[in-house]
Amino acid sequence: MTTLPFQALACPLDGNPLQRQGAALCCAAGHSFDIASQGYTNLLPVQNKRSLDPGDSKEMVAARRRFLESSHYAPIAAAVSQATLAGVQAGVLSCLDAGCGEGYYLRQLAAAAEREGQTLALLGLDISKWAVLAAAKRDKQSTWVVGSNAALPVLPATLDRVLCMFGFPVYAEFARVLQPGGFLLQVDAGPDHLRELREVIYPSLKPPRNGETLTPAGFAAPTSEALSYRVEVCGAEQIADLLAMTPHLYRATAEGRARAAALTEISLTVDVRLTRFGREA
Ligand SMILES: C[S@@+](CC[C@H](N)C(=O)[O-])C[C@H]1O[C@@H](n2cnc3c(N)ncnc32)[C@H](O)[C@@H]1O
Ligand SMILES: [Zn+2]
Repeated sequence: MTTLPFQALACPLDGNPLQRQGAALCCAAGHSFDIASQGYTNLLPVQNKRSLDPGDSKEMVAARRRFLESSHYAPIAAAVSQATLAGVQAGVLSCLDAGCGEGYYLRQLAAAAEREGQTLALLGLDISKWAVLAAAKRDKQSTWVVGSNAALPVLPATLDRVLCMFGFPVYAEFARVLQPGGFLLQVDAGPDHLRELREVIYPSLKPPRNGETLTPAGFAAPTSEALSYRVEVCGAEQIADLLAMTPHLYRATAEGRARAAALTEISLTVDVRLTRFGREA
């Protein structure tokens, strides 16, 4: 087995280490969190919830799972796995996917590590219960938790890698949980990402923001690389699934959504930026 559970979880109420006791994770102060039968643990205290059902809905998670299964984003997963594993020495590499969605990128990372004989300790975290449930059902080796990037239930300096894919980075938290010498790998949409779909749904496209990437406290100046390729997306369902994964579904007008719904195929540019922020010693 090359994927192990992640052992350095912290109590979301007081930061104490969590230990497994039967079907629960418990801290020394007596807080206890049940491990659900599907294999995930809810470590999001009610007081940190901004809504009853935060994060992606059940429908959005299902749409993302169907779209990612089509392998249209496999080159992104391959680039992320390669960057995560590059230059790793023997031993266990611990990695968090912060905002893991339905777990696609961690599953691809586990498969890449298996091919290279690298052992991983994996933690997938998302604020959406539906996302974590879907991820836990498909991977019984990794650790899956409902939680927030704003207050990670993780002991300090216990991770070698943090992934933040199309998500919501909280750099102070990522710096806290990364070991010196580890790094954050952030993936975001580039200026041409899904341009052809955006041209269908918006009357005009906003010019891309050319802001320089800032260096957050605790990190060295980041390095960035672009990954760009084309995909053919076929069928109204798959186009609808892709739209449901993006912010455009909510930003578009009813007319824009109707134009997208009328599409049966589209040739699209995938354009993403991979940015690596090294944790300073
Ligand atoms: C655009 S999706 C990306 C999901 C996944 N990284 C992927 O690329 O397939 C953003 C994800 O962030 C989650 N999310 C939103 N706010 C969050 C927070 N504060 N902490 C952790 N996850 C969050 C959502 O539930 C959703 O699953
Ligand atoms: Zn506690």
